Amino acid sequence: MLQGTEKILVVYASISGSTKRVAEHLQQHLQERLPDAQVDILDMLVANPEAFREYDFVFIGASTYDNGLNPFGEVFVVSLAGREPEQMWSGVNFAVFGLGDSSYLEFCMSPDILKECAESHGGVVHEPLLRIDVLTQEWDEQQAVTGEWADNFIA
Ligand SMILES: Cc1cc2nc3c(=O)[nH]c(=O)nc-3n(C[C@H](O)[C@H](O)[C@H](O)COP(=O)(O)O)c2cc1C
Repeated sequence: MLQGTEKILVVYASISGSTKRVAEHLQQHLQERLPDAQVDILDMLVANPEAFREYDFVFIGASTYDNGLNPFGEVFVVSLAGREPEQMWSGVNFAVFGLGDSSYLEFCMSPDILKECAESHGGVVHEPLLRIDVLTQEWDEQQAVTGEWADNFIA
């Protein structure tokens, strides 16, 4: 649980900007709730996965494309193959979020894939996962559910 003085990372993969917008809101919300914490934000395209170990807590999120991660998220996950499994993120705390659209047959698989990815590299994934449905949830609601979800991890 976050007490308030931690180093926190928000990392996201986004194609058309919806996940980026949620990630930026999450960063702002965390910084407001935890003014003494350091809350950084990074695009997965430029994130160094080894550096996640420097953080007390990593919020990781991506949108869903074609039953999987969006292409940028996919590149990130594939790039992890070959790195020492189960050691890279040993003991690193994660919370996972994703965006999807419930008009698709398979709704919002991205959090499950990111959870599996984090755990297979030794990360500790905290529940609940957050799934945002861009079909039914307007921006106001997206902001509200994101804030409520983040508060689960604040002591
Ligand atoms: C080509 C394409 C495929 C998609 N496939 C899925 C899908 O399989 N399941 C789902 O829940 N949403 C799917 N979506 C919806 C996206 O996840 C949704 O539009 C999301 O807001 C995109 O976020 P982004 O702008 O951060 O990438 C798809 C969108 C596109 C454009």
